[in-house]
Amino acid sequence: ARITLRQLLDHAAEHEYGVPAFNLNNMEQGLAIMAAADATDSPVILQASRGARAYANDVVLAKLIDGLVEIYPHIPVCMHLDHGNNEATCATAIQYGFTSVMMDGSLKADGKTPADYNYNVEITRNVTKMAHWAGVSVEGELGVLGSLESGQGEAEDGHGAEGTLSHDQLLTDPDEAVKFVEATKVDALAVAMGTSHGAYKFTRKPDGEVLAMNVIEEIHRRLPTTHLVMHGSSSVPQDLQDIINQYGGQMKPTWGVPVEEIQRGIKHGVRKINIDTDNRMAMTGQIRKVLTENPSEFDPRKYLKPAMEAMTKLCKQRFEEFNTAGKG
Ligand code: G3H
Ligand code: 13P
Ligand code: NA
Ligand code: ZN
Repeated sequence: ARITLRQLLDHAAEHEYGVPAFNLNNMEQGLAIMAAADATDSPVILQASRGARAYANDVVLAKLIDGLVEIYPHIPVCMHLDHGNNEATCATAIQYGFTSVMMDGSLKADGKTPADYNYNVEITRNVTKMAHWAGVSVEGELGVLGSLESGQGEAEDGHGAEGTLSHDQLLTDPDEAVKFVEATKVDALAVAMGTSHGAYKFTRKPDGEVLAMNVIEEIHRRLPTTHLVMHGSSSVPQDLQDIINQYGGQMKPTWGVPVEEIQRGIKHGVRKINIDTDNRMAMTGQIRKVLTENPSEFDPRKYLKPAMEAMTKLCKQRFEEFNTAGKG
């Protein structure tokens, strides 16, 4: 059954677990996530970006979610818009049956220009007012994702803030967080503490200098009842890098967010953990493997099925690690 983000994260806070929010763009990813949730008895957050909505088509995406909910009627499903950029994208997501929307007002509507505090409050407050009328939850974001190592916003994949950012912008200010939650009435707050989207987050295993989990702890002390969200939380596992590279891929050495850091976050108010890159890598590794080992193969099912299975395995692992398993 469909539930809102607020309902799910209130339960997660009460029972002290985190919920991975997995991005989906197609049927294979949807089936893979649901199979993992079913196998581990976990509630689910499915999230679709604007890019996913454009890729799959809003109508197809909405019917896909209907289908997944129908196949697994016993699984609580929150359908969430990832990184909404203005009021309209949030409103149309609600029209298509999303039970939760993110209004990311940390950036202007172009998705590139860091926005000031007042812009963020104003646009997020508008969305919260509208979404709450419709019984839909809202995630806001304060602070801009990007690397504390380089000061860069998002790299290669073309997402996120452009140019060089200061530590002031890259770390959510706890005082501002208190004011922001009060002013906007968001149900969940995404905070910036050194993570970024994509595979290239850190050039070494991250320590407190580049992954500022202490910021999360401070915000949780100040806002003990606010559900916190970690974006850019793929762990970029070495074994997935290896499979891709073993079968002709060219990923450069890189580090993601260690699972133990996420677990530390879950002890301090983190309830939603966004993961896309790990699943992309899990699928791509298998597709490369099948096509390399069987160059004459051309039936998509022959590589998409192993890809789905690898994604299910990754999702099951995160459900276990975040203690979501058994909470469905
Ligand atoms: O925000 C980043 C997520 O990984 C979604 O990425 O916008 O390419 O679908 P996307
Ligand atoms: P990753 O790129 O680390 O998987 O982060 C995904 C994300 O934050 C989606 O909003
Ligand atoms: Na989100
Ligand atoms: Zn994100």
